[in-house]
Amino acid sequence: MFRMIKWLWRGFRRPSSLSFGLVLFIGFGIGIGGWAGTRAFLHYTSTTEYCTSCHDLAPAVEEYRQSSHFMNASGVQAGCADCHVPEPFWASVQDHAHAVIELWRHYDGTIATPELFEEHRLRLATQVWDYMEATNSRECRTCHVADAFDFAAMSESAREEMEPLADEHGGNCITCHRGIVHELPDMEAAAAAQEAQALAALSATDGDLGDVMYVIGTAPLTLTADPDAQPAAQVLPGTDLEVLGSDGDFVNIRMSGFEQEGAAQVMYAMVGRRIINTSMQADAQAAVERGETTLDPETDISWTETALEGWVPRTSLTADAEGLWAYADNTYRTGCGVCHSPHHPDEFLANQWMGQMRAMRDRTAITGEQYRLVLRYLQLNARDVAEAHGG
Ligand code: HEC
Ligand code: HEC
Ligand code: HEC
Ligand code: HEC
Ligand code: HEC
Repeated sequence: MFRMIKWLWRGFRRPSSLSFGLVLFIGFGIGIGGWAGTRAFLHYTSTTEYCTSCHDLAPAVEEYRQSSHFMNASGVQAGCADCHVPEPFWASVQDHAHAVIELWRHYDGTIATPELFEEHRLRLATQVWDYMEATNSRECRTCHVADAFDFAAMSESAREEMEPLADEHGGNCITCHRGIVHELPDMEAAAAAQEAQALAALSATDGDLGDVMYVIGTAPLTLTADPDAQPAAQVLPGTDLEVLGSDGDFVNIRMSGFEQEGAAQVMYAMVGRRIINTSMQADAQAAVERGETTLDPETDISWTETALEGWVPRTSLTADAEGLWAYADNTYRTGCGVCHSPHHPDEFLANQWMGQMRAMRDRTAITGEQYRLVLRYLQLNARDVAEAHGG
């Protein structure tokens, strides 16, 4: 009772739709006959029949019926509420208060057709993921008890990822197991939307050119400020450029890096690390200034200091390095953390990340530009680079 009063008091001080719903609901519960009525109400509203009375139109139900949580060799079934309605009494009351919002949206017709449902699926799935992240997948653990897993009986790939669960702080089911019952939202569309939003937020507007600017999406580089000129090079996302000046929509830049002997078409960011700044056409290669040459003792290959001056569109640049790398980190976590927890960048060397990313290319839904930015992010934070470069 004391906890309830505290909860209500918090609700009144910081009114939110949730606590408002709770007050409504408790009033309703008491109105229909005190605790017994409340419990009966909670029970009825936790049956799959109740859930499907609304969700029947939505694909959620049909997908559920196809899943191994509906039918399997052991005949143990998880109902909607087993995964979506918490067992602990107060958490359950809060959840039902949330249901008041669902009720409202139901009469609003928010997800009334399969098409509307698809439109909202990413938002709804994200709400569920956030909730399960926050509760350490409590509802999954009512059936799947970490102590009861027979890791020896699992496939090798399952055992490798799952064994840390034996430890209390081992890992959160929902980080690795998404889309087990329902179809995943259209992650490609989601990635594209995320990209458009991030680029709009980062893109340089009038007046805020820094001394150093970062490329946010592959930038065409021209040797003159002429808007009709053919690009002489493509500068990859994440590359840092020294700003020399600007002319209307174009920024005059100087890009520095290294050329590997025999590969004049590519400028790398560092000696011996295949972190690509740009790939160049013949006219850009001819415009490259060359400095000192050093021999990389590890590989016996010579690298020459290079620099290239040219023009890139203002909208492809940002001065906000922190914002750009935060976006890259977030894209990495959401795009690469669907099937396994994201590997720490320093688990691999800069050159190894190229192959790791290529191997995962077809598995992720991230866009091509996000792929290139995430690759550079991982390379700059790779074991053999992080200390030297910062990233
Ligand atoms: C009165 C109709 C109705 C009933 C009954 C109902 N829902 Fe919903 N539910 C909705 C609507 C409408 C939405 C979309 C809400 C929105 O747009 O934010 C929704 C959203 C959801 C979501 C995704 C959003 C989130 O944050 O969790 C889940 C999961 C869900 N319902 C599960 C259930 C379960 C489980 C039950 C049975 C215990 C149930 N629903 C009963 C109408 C209903
Ligand atoms: C009501 C009990 C129950 C709940 C709650 C439950 N599961 Fe299961 N789960 C089962 C049973 C039973 C099986 C075995 C199905 C079979 O034999 O194929 C299973 C199978 C699985 C599998 C392997 C088969 C597959 O479909 O990939 C995974 C992974 C899994 N559960 C994850 C989860 C996660 C994550 C949650 C929480 C979102 C969850 N479970 C909630 C009972 C439950
Ligand atoms: C770090 C990632 C990770 C976490 C965290 C994780 N799993 Fe798994 N789990 C896996 C992988 C990978 C597999 C193998 C999947 C496959 O082979 O398709 C697996 C397999 C399973 C299986 C099937 C086992 C079998 O051999 O049939 C179940 C059931 C399961 N997980 C449930 C859970 C539950 C419940 C939790 C939370 C308590 C959880 N997992 C947490 C990665 C993870
Ligand atoms: C074994 C656990 C489990 C069961 C059983 C289950 N769900 Fe879900 N549900 C999830 C998970 C996990 C998500 C988050 C999205 C994802 O990973 O697929 C989710 C997401 C949802 C969503 C958000 C939209 C979406 O498709 O992602 C709705 C609505 C929903 N569930 C309703 C239901 C209803 C209704 C039932 C019963 C017919 C049900 N769920 C049964 C685990 C479950
Ligand atoms: C659709 C599921 C899925 C997605 C998404 C995914 N991976 Fe993987 N990843 C796997 C599986 C499964 C393995 C196990 C090895 C294998 O099958 O290649 C793995 C293995 C790995 C490994 C370990 C290889 C080793 O040598 O130990 C790395 C690193 C990796 N992934 C990185 C990534 C990156 C980076 C992304 C995002 C670009 C990503 N993964 C996205 C499923 C996925």
